[in-house]
Amino acid sequence: MASGSRIIAIDGPAGTGKSTTAREVASRLGWRYVDSGAFYRVAALLALRHDLDLTVPADRGRLREALEAADVGQEVVGGTSHVRLEGEDVTVEIRTPAVTAIVSRVADDPDLREIVNVGLRGQVGKEPAVIDGRDIGTVVFPDAFLKVFLLASLEERARRRVAEAEPGREDDPTVLASYAQSLAERDRRDRERSVAPLRPADDALYLDTSGLDFDTQVARVVRAARERLRMDA
Ligand code: CDP
Repeated sequence: MASGSRIIAIDGPAGTGKSTTAREVASRLGWRYVDSGAFYRVAALLALRHDLDLTVPADRGRLREALEAADVGQEVVGGTSHVRLEGEDVTVEIRTPAVTAIVSRVADDPDLREIVNVGLRGQVGKEPAVIDGRDIGTVVFPDAFLKVFLLASLEERARRRVAEAEPGREDDPTVLASYAQSLAERDRRDRERSVAPLRPADDALYLDTSGLDFDTQVARVVRAARERLRMDA
């Protein structure tokens, strides 16, 4: 198998466990992990920091320039993925509600997506890697040797996000409803955009994680990867 296709693409909507699954699969295989959403989140952070108005085309242009010039790095340290912008650790800041609220609007610009895709392909090079996102198996690495599409019910996804952001409040119906609403809104934007919409690749392996524990979820992907690697050996 050409090393260029030693890519596992893990796509799916928000809160399905893509990042944690991808990171663990990468660690078990000894492969690189790349979080494509982090690039869109960094772009959203740049839009906020430069006070750009996403409804103004000239500001969209400025954002693309800022992203193209930015030095964005990712590394996994002690099981946690860190994202750096010009050397500054922005891991926490790119996950704030302010960034999350605008990221899918930032991501609907085809030219900005191309900048991200070039950056992603450059970061991966010829290394084997596990990459998570929305369009990895369909657009960024269509020749990935394994494509996984993760699913989970909206309620379960909202519960997971509350557990991450506000532990202990997972059973509060008002909190749950508000997280569910913002997840549903982001999914809608990601699915309905004209460029690289969120959708499973035709040859994707579907994994509904609603009733699965994390270890089983990871083991299924690792097993599928090993089977394919063996078939190709
Ligand atoms: O972790 P979570 O599922 O909340 O999202 P993420 O992977 O950090 O991605 C944040 C946003 O970036 C998504 O809602 C998409 O709008 C955008 N994105 C994208 O358009 N394409 C990708 N390959 C990855 C993320």
